[in-house]
Amino acid sequence: MAITSDIAPSTAERTGIGLRLPHIAEVVATRPPVGWLEIHPENFLANPHGLELLTDLARDYPISVHTVGISIGSADGIDRVHLRRLRALVDRLNPVLVSGHLAWSATGGTYLNDLLPLPYTTETLRVVAAHLGEVQDVFGRPYVVENPSSYVSLATSTMTELEFLHALVNDTGCRLLCDVSNVHLSGHNMGYDAYRFIDEFPAAAVAELHLGGFTPEDDEAIPGGTLLVDTHAHAVADPAWGLYAHALRRFGPQPTIVEWDNDLPALAILIDEAAKADHVRQTVREDRHAHAG
Ligand SMILES: [Fe+2]
Repeated sequence: MAITSDIAPSTAERTGIGLRLPHIAEVVATRPPVGWLEIHPENFLANPHGLELLTDLARDYPISVHTVGISIGSADGIDRVHLRRLRALVDRLNPVLVSGHLAWSATGGTYLNDLLPLPYTTETLRVVAAHLGEVQDVFGRPYVVENPSSYVSLATSTMTELEFLHALVNDTGCRLLCDVSNVHLSGHNMGYDAYRFIDEFPAAAVAELHLGGFTPEDDEAIPGGTLLVDTHAHAVADPAWGLYAHALRRFGPQPTIVEWDNDLPALAILIDEAAKADHVRQTVREDRHAHAG
């Protein structure tokens, strides 16, 4: 399927939030000043009341559908029944973006509650590209692929993550969701320069940015003794804000979502995080204008 449409949401000048079920009634009641809302569709498949509230919100906010259960990297294929259920939800919400992870999370009909790493090989590239085509055919729209958070490198990989992402974009024309916090923590865990990673990321393919919090854990195997774990259980850390500014300078003012999934704070705190992202965007914009002037 040829993907030619411009999928960047024009209405997302302002940062959005990951909308989780405990916040949804408050968001419906208060209509907070955020630019857009990103949901995990799997949370709404068996939740008619939640879906009703979300459909109401979709009249006032651009919605992004961020899948967590498609498992685009599964060697044994993807679940077409699940895809068709998601398609019905996508049709109902008419989101500005549909996205998911470069990972695998299901095998032999068993769903694992995790996003697991893929070896970066030509074989994986073929599998992911084929599944991407399948997903896009079922949804009838582009599917944006997110860079993973990394903890290990697989001995069977023959490419770096960046080489794999470039090859995926070249082979399929897909767009990418750059999770800036994932780049920061993967850089820390894997020992690479996160700023350079952003510099070498396929910039023309970027359609969205993510920011989220991580949790440091003691780990003797990591230089410095600390592993950063992508828990989405904290505010965005200072180094990730610096990297976000760098990403905006490199990619332009991309639509951004702040994610928080565990130890969910009061909605006001999440909205503050989105406002901080807006502040960074504004600063980068002013710097750009100052230098242009
Ligand atoms: Fe993310």
